[in-house]
Amino acid sequence: MRVPLADLVHQYQTMKEEVDAAIRSVLESGRFILGPEVSHLEEEIAACCGARYGVAVNSGTDALLLSLVAHGIGRGDEVITTPFTFVATVEAIVQAGATPVFADIDPQTFNLCPERAAEKITPRTRAIMPVDLFGQMADRHAFLALAKAHNLTCIWDAAQAIGAAFDGRRLAEFDGTATLSFFPTKNLGAFGDGGMVLTNEEAVAEHLRNLRFHGSGGGYYYKEIGYCSRLDALQAAILRVKLKYLPAWNEARRRHAARYMERLSETCVTLPFVDPRAYHIFHQFTLRHPRRDALKTYLASQGVDSGIYYPLSLHLQEAYARLGYRSGDLPHAERATQEVLSIPVHPDLTDDQVEFVADQIRRFDA
Ligand SMILES: Cc1ncc(COP(=O)(O)O)c(C=O)c1O
Repeated sequence: MRVPLADLVHQYQTMKEEVDAAIRSVLESGRFILGPEVSHLEEEIAACCGARYGVAVNSGTDALLLSLVAHGIGRGDEVITTPFTFVATVEAIVQAGATPVFADIDPQTFNLCPERAAEKITPRTRAIMPVDLFGQMADRHAFLALAKAHNLTCIWDAAQAIGAAFDGRRLAEFDGTATLSFFPTKNLGAFGDGGMVLTNEEAVAEHLRNLRFHGSGGGYYYKEIGYCSRLDALQAAILRVKLKYLPAWNEARRRHAARYMERLSETCVTLPFVDPRAYHIFHQFTLRHPRRDALKTYLASQGVDSGIYYPLSLHLQEAYARLGYRSGDLPHAERATQEVLSIPVHPDLTDDQVEFVADQIRRFDA
């Protein structure tokens, strides 16, 4: 049986008429950049995540970069983050002109560890940027306490966590600024690039709107140097159609995850740890296995796709060598890169496919 990591063609087929109509309506409107589709999407996503404001930009990466800039973080500032994330988290810090400071992860949740982050605070630290990895929110209470004690800004990289909650509260029902990505394979994915910043502060939202439009507050007058980072109306229209299905899709992912948990409980697999306070939306179902590479090869031979997120910790990447980290500096992140494997958990899977994947892993371990 063939089991892909994502099935975007199938997903499109299930809502083809609605999506095609939305696309046609944008084509007939002649409004292609920002405009009403984008403002409606901003309102709808802000409402879905408990935010007062949503500001759409052209990627999750830009959502991070513009958030840092909007908070005045740049040259001379340090931002503490995790080395076990997609590269964009760290790239945005560098592009803002600040210095990323890596702290190790909690080996259970894979998220930035608040205690290790606390050890990295210096007089130059301006912000903490935890990532809600694989769809599980980082510990909001611990990081907000740290931020309050040291007067830091929290920028939550929630690219993988739209629809998640922590202690019954949604993404933007906590202090700080949260960012989303609409990369096509995300839980809510566009048919191209897109992202959004969620904030409860009017001044931050206003600043972000200027930044995404070349630094213009209106007309051809520029108060600061900005960016060209707007969301297309076509992407917004498509995302508005898909947003209606997001709660059901997240529930389907959770159902598949629960089945894996049950079926793989007596194998060599270390199952994902779910913090009891977290509503995990399983952007990825990431297990650990002592013979990860052999398991990946075996699954591929049975038609099951899997992914390694991520194969090399960012503090050891060539691009970030100048930061001066060495192998052994962040042992939990380094170990995770050797052991993790993400198996298919997308909402378009059938129960039979989930069962099949679990059976293959059990067979490998037998
Ligand atoms: C954790 C994380 N941060 C940032 C990004 C960047 O988002 P984008 O690809 O939309 O720029 C992604 C996804 O791609 C991500 O997974």
